[in-house]
Amino acid sequence: MSTERSAPDSDNNNGNALTALDDLLPRLGERLARTETRQINGRVRRIRGLLIHASIEGVSIGELCYLRDPVSGRRIAAEVIGFEEEDAVLSPIGELQGLSTRSEVIATGRAQGVAVGDSLLGRVISPLGEWLDTPPAPSSGSPQTAATLREVPVHAEPPPPLTRQLIEHPLALGVRAIDALNTVARGQRVGLFGEPGVGKSSLLSAIVKGSSAEVVVLGLVGERGREVRELLDVQLDAEARRRTVCVVSTSDRPAIERARAALVATSVAEYFRDQGRDVLLLVDSLTRFARAQREIGLAAGEPPTRRGYPPSLFAALPRLLERAGPGGASGGTITAIYTVLTEGDGTLDPVAEETRAILDGHIVLSADLARRDHFPAIDVLASRSRLMETVASDDHRRDAGKIRDLMARYRDVELLLQVGEYREGSDAATDEAIRKHAAINDFLRQSRDDHSDFTETLKRLREIAQ
Ligand SMILES: Nc1ncnc2c1ncn2[C@@H]1O[C@H](COP(=O)(O)OP(=O)(O)O)[C@@H](O)[C@H]1O
Ligand SMILES: [Mg+2]
Repeated sequence: MSTERSAPDSDNNNGNALTALDDLLPRLGERLARTETRQINGRVRRIRGLLIHASIEGVSIGELCYLRDPVSGRRIAAEVIGFEEEDAVLSPIGELQGLSTRSEVIATGRAQGVAVGDSLLGRVISPLGEWLDTPPAPSSGSPQTAATLREVPVHAEPPPPLTRQLIEHPLALGVRAIDALNTVARGQRVGLFGEPGVGKSSLLSAIVKGSSAEVVVLGLVGERGREVRELLDVQLDAEARRRTVCVVSTSDRPAIERARAALVATSVAEYFRDQGRDVLLLVDSLTRFARAQREIGLAAGEPPTRRGYPPSLFAALPRLLERAGPGGASGGTITAIYTVLTEGDGTLDPVAEETRAILDGHIVLSADLARRDHFPAIDVLASRSRLMETVASDDHRRDAGKIRDLMARYRDVELLLQVGEYREGSDAATDEAIRKHAAINDFLRQSRDDHSDFTETLKRLREIAQ
């Protein structure tokens, strides 16, 4: 080896070229050492349901592999989710179509990433990073776009707690019932709870249009295709679309892809936060993320616990939610709203319970209000922003406290009023609550296209409170 290496040095005729080569070789060697070269080729052994058992060694959980059909050359991405006896168990991230026992398994040695960049604004992508809207993906063809995209991990770590900025400022969402009475802070994480059909998705689309966030990332997890289409083409206007990145995985997609939509949306939000921007991350719905995780966990052989949810879900939920929030030195924030499906009062649902405990606030939608055509159907008194105290001005807090008090008083005597049993004059504060009831309801009701400016909202709140 060493004699071979020294031979060119002694050759003076080709001195320049060889010196250059001598320079290059160690650098190439260095590059090679850093390049992922271990293409461990295993084989698909068995396909059971949605899971693939493969004989492949040296892979780890979370690792991205490709399954390649040697005849057609078709490639499917899959993730290692467990091991059984001698086999690695993989879950495909895309469609299973074309997979056979002929398929080869190629390990990549890394977890899946997603390409992010400013050019994502206004676009709709799949959790695999494919562009779902037209014009078609320039990522593979146009050098300009390829250069502006960079890959970030799908499972990123949250910023270290002590480096995170303090939460200090409100984020206007354009919805009076929230801005005035359940103010959301920049960097806060909120759950939007409600039964099916009470207007969760509609409220999110109103927030996309009305919020003052610089960038909105919308993660649509397991929605029906029709709903996605309606949201993007009908409910959002061009201005809202321009500052929105949408990550979509509809209900017909494989579980791992649906779960990934929430993770990828978070990765995209992290990218913009790290640019110093105030990002609003909306995930619809967290329940469907949990159900997708349940499918994956049970298929991998985990034991079912509460409502069939596997233990890994209760690790995955806080890991996902903790990634939102204020960032480090960049000064950017991710304010996040996750919709959570409830049945009845939601006390039996482990996903609702768990998220309520983790998040910094909850907005509760009421089926009763929706039935009375009161939209947005926000149950103001049942909702609570744990950070409103921190970010609202003294005047704002006082006015909001007053209105909440009037609403609570009205609720207490509502039944009596209906049966004609309440006598005016028995209590001055209750009389005021009854007198102002219509004005408060007027203030709280808002059509989807009506976005209320924050200052204007506080002005109206003051007028009613005085
Ligand atoms: N602001 C609103 N104004 C009028 N109707 C609304 C409003 N929000 C929701 N709705 C009604 O409620 C229905 C269900 O809303 P949706 O957002 O799909 O509920 P969810 O996402 O909670 O299942 C809508 O089709 C619409 O008829
Ligand atoms: Mg919905």
